[in-house]
Amino acid sequence: MAANAQDVWQAARAVGTTLSRPPMTETADLDSRPSIAAVPDPAKGRAREAGENADSDIEEAVFSLDGVTVRYGDLAAVQGVTLDIAPNQITALIGPSGCGKSTLIRSLNRMNDLIPEARVEGSITYHGIDLYGKDVDPVEVRRRVGMVFQKPNPFPKSIYDNVAFGPRVNGSPKGDLAEIVERSLRQAALWDEVKDKLRQSAMALSGGQQQRLCIARALAVSPDVILMDEPCSALDPISTARIEDLMDELKSDYTIVIVTHNMQQAARVSQRTAFFTTEVDDAGRRCGTLVEYDDTDSIFTSPGDKRTEDYITGRFG
Ligand SMILES: Nc1ncnc2c1ncn2[C@@H]1O[C@H](COP(=O)(O)OP(=O)(O)OP(=O)(O)O)[C@@H](O)[C@H]1O
Ligand SMILES: [Mg+2]
Repeated sequence: MAANAQDVWQAARAVGTTLSRPPMTETADLDSRPSIAAVPDPAKGRAREAGENADSDIEEAVFSLDGVTVRYGDLAAVQGVTLDIAPNQITALIGPSGCGKSTLIRSLNRMNDLIPEARVEGSITYHGIDLYGKDVDPVEVRRRVGMVFQKPNPFPKSIYDNVAFGPRVNGSPKGDLAEIVERSLRQAALWDEVKDKLRQSAMALSGGQQQRLCIARALAVSPDVILMDEPCSALDPISTARIEDLMDELKSDYTIVIVTHNMQQAARVSQRTAFFTTEVDDAGRRCGTLVEYDDTDSIFTSPGDKRTEDYITGRFG
């Protein structure tokens, strides 16, 4: 599978590198960014409790969204979203095509900054810090909040260099790289398959292996959160099952937000589910809106809104 320039560009930013300044960050003073740095870095040993109980109210939310609207130009793609994302859980975003799932998930690591006409309104806090505060460094945000895309997008480099890419750019000492690469590949359940061919091109891996490599690449910069936008939609059922198992293991160390069109997948892997739909206003403008957000069992067994029920039972969307 060939990586195109856009994919590589997007992925380079998704692993929290500093290749160039993204647009819309011109006000930030590079030397005085206390905000995100003030958030305890889980990679440096912040103690956390595994949040298994999705019934309880979310305490110490990783993200708190309050009245979030994302526009492209004048048009709102998704509007008025208020929800909290719990630590050490998998939160699924579901809903019909075009309801703004990708738009919303991109707002959680400021990937929308890279789309010039995109504007985020409302409030998004990350561990209580305003994610869009002018002192927040979006590159550091993307190191802490990694992203895995629908289509596996390895760089046209060796397996080793793909995983080492982010740590290298972030200045990890050379001596630590081999250890980081091995740890990340093990975490991504790929080590056994590639340990004897680390110097071979990543492009020669299967699609499922490439996606696990992209997960390893995201893990290599020691993130706090991993965002996944339909990570399995290009994969066969066996590769999908491997990624789902992997997500289940990763949640004890990371917070995961996943966009999926696969209802079974949302039901299998997530602890909380947010259902979005598209509403059409009097002027015929379409806009995504959050219908219901609850623990996954409730959403799938006793949804509170007919639109959710219709969607998950396949009557709509
Ligand atoms: N870069 C962009 N510029 C302008 N409009 C955009 C852009 N990206 C998305 N949109 C619009 O925003 C709306 C939401 O798109 P988005 O990709 O977030 O939906 P989605 O829920 O992820 O859909 P799908 O399930 O098909 O991936 C759509 O109307 C889309 O056309
Ligand atoms: Mg999408």
